Amino acid sequence: MDKKFYITTPIYYVNARPHIGHAYTTITCDTIARRHRMLGDDTYFLTGTDEHGIKIERAATAQGITPKQLADDVSAAFRGLWDRMGITYDQFIRTTDDCHKLGVQELFRVLQKNGYIYKDSYTGQYCVYDEMFVEAAPGAPCPECGRPTETISEENYFFKLSAFEDKLLKLYAENPDFIRPETRRNEVISFVRSGLRDLSISRSTFKWGIPVPGDPKHVIYVWLDALSNYITALGYGQKDHAKFDRYWPADVHMIGKEIVRFHCVYWPAFLMAAGIPLPKGIVAHGWLLFEQSKMSKSRGNIVRAETILDVLGADALRYFLLREVAFGQDGSFSFDALVQRYNSDLANDLGNLASRTLTMIGRYFGEQVPDGAAGKNAADEAVAGLARTTISDFDTHFEQFQFSRALESAWALVGAVNKYLVENEPWVVAEKNDDAARSRLGAILYTAAEALRLVTALIHPVIPDSTARIWTQLGLHDIRKCRPTDLQWGRLKPGTKLGKVEPVFPRADKSAIERMQHLEEKDRPGTPAAEPKQEPAGTGAQAGQPATQAVASGVQASDNDQKIAIDDFLKIDLRVAQIKVAEPVKGADKLLRLEVDLGYEQRQILAGIAKYYDPQSLIGRKIVIVANLAPRKMRGLESNGMLLAASLPSDENGKPVLASFLEDVPLGAKLK
Ligand code: MSP
Repeated sequence: MDKKFYITTPIYYVNARPHIGHAYTTITCDTIARRHRMLGDDTYFLTGTDEHGIKIERAATAQGITPKQLADDVSAAFRGLWDRMGITYDQFIRTTDDCHKLGVQELFRVLQKNGYIYKDSYTGQYCVYDEMFVEAAPGAPCPECGRPTETISEENYFFKLSAFEDKLLKLYAENPDFIRPETRRNEVISFVRSGLRDLSISRSTFKWGIPVPGDPKHVIYVWLDALSNYITALGYGQKDHAKFDRYWPADVHMIGKEIVRFHCVYWPAFLMAAGIPLPKGIVAHGWLLFEQSKMSKSRGNIVRAETILDVLGADALRYFLLREVAFGQDGSFSFDALVQRYNSDLANDLGNLASRTLTMIGRYFGEQVPDGAAGKNAADEAVAGLARTTISDFDTHFEQFQFSRALESAWALVGAVNKYLVENEPWVVAEKNDDAARSRLGAILYTAAEALRLVTALIHPVIPDSTARIWTQLGLHDIRKCRPTDLQWGRLKPGTKLGKVEPVFPRADKSAIERMQHLEEKDRPGTPAAEPKQEPAGTGAQAGQPATQAVASGVQASDNDQKIAIDDFLKIDLRVAQIKVAEPVKGADKLLRLEVDLGYEQRQILAGIAKYYDPQSLIGRKIVIVANLAPRKMRGLESNGMLLAASLPSDENGKPVLASFLEDVPLGAKLK
């Protein structure tokens, strides 16, 4: 095995459990890795979890656990899911692994030694969600994702990214395949052309990260830490770097489109600065949408892979994602479309071809592949010809990451062979008892079985389990060992004894959709059936939860008889206020004491958000309060109002998210 092939997924953040958006990337990489193994390449497939940074630290604090506990828990959930799905990763890296830490620190030292790091003080707006400094005025939202930014002032280490503008543009110009697809490449080029500023690569306001070598007050910027996983996993900066020598540079870094800049600008710049060869290609896919928007925990519109595995199995999900989504573009997921695809393409087309071909060989030829040579005619030649073109078209599309088109071409062959069977009526030919009919019957079934064998091998990387089963039913051995030389028409040996023939794709009935929907609903707090989990505290986020939760999770509006008149609404005085003081309340682990400024007055509010918000992070935030709520005493303190928050239905506890504004709004402004 001379040719090596190294492919990576992004490493997934551990602040959210895996959903089918993550599975989409992992399945795509798994499919590509499986195909390269079948091509005979020495393939290495890396995946893992990204565990440091303020986002993870805060998520852990919100759950009342340590960041390491959260990381252990969620990382195991990712790994467990990939194992359950039969993902053939060669390594699962965690950024909390000691060897990763050593490698990142070594990279930092090399960048320093090469003169690309300096220390400077900096004040800017930081977007915690994207884990990056952004160009925005204080109080303004993040220009990338629209979420609130935080003003951060600290002394940081900087990376001289500005020194790489020309080198990067030259890299893109000379290697048109460095960034695929073309749309992403163009975006990156115009971003770099508009000028690069030096990048802050350390943080000193929190601890959850890899310490800067020789200056442990600072932790290394989470993206420098995370991107390095692609080389530290192979032993970069460690004693044993045999894998690094063998597999680096990566052949494909597969990513979602939202992290193109980090991979196509920062990562090659870091590598150039360290004198490390660059990856050969970065391939960005689009987003998986559910209910019209990007599937993500913060939107609360996720679908878990487990739901689909429980009802239809991993291959149904794999096939759907690769067939239905035009790779590179966004694609919509729905249970209806999933079941529809499964039934039409897998149960009907492929399932029928396999079961009727194998059953007839069983019935008419004592479970042995017949010899087709004597009874062959032009129709068989046509199928053989189509199979050859299909193999070559499939290859071409696959090489260009056009999985959907590759599968379309494979299914055109499946359809043609099904049609061929209908037209050649082997069941009628079998009724005749002469030699010519017997030879013809042999030819028809050989043609169908050989086409089935070829298509099964071709699509094995996409639906590995079911194709392995069809393979065994065809009487063949390990499908993973099928090589390109086996993909030639006529390689199926007459006389091959079939395995036990059984249906591979049982039809899914309507209840499959209901079962999947039910499994998802059960898992989502905030759906109509789910009771609000926490006791309303009278004031604070929880009191507002049932109503706001309903909006955030798309739950149906209340019944007519529960509707209120406009006059009722006008009774509520909703106002913009700014948090000036935020502190825990002794003896009440859910409550925070807030002092808020309404412009015309300051007042105290108690809010049940202590588990979800670090008091420090609240200071300065503009929020919405119910200003005319009757005062209420809790823990001996008076609360004068209630703040408004949406409740994230995807979070087990119904995590509150404070209502805020993207535009600047004066204090005391009334909401109506
Ligand atoms: N930790 C960073 C990546 C660091 S790589 C050095 C990160 N993690 S993430 O958990 O947010 O996962 C991002 C990746 O998950 C996306 O790039 C994409 O591959 C996949 N997806 C997550 N949600 C997705 C969809 N809704 N649709 C498609 N892919 C999605 O960013």
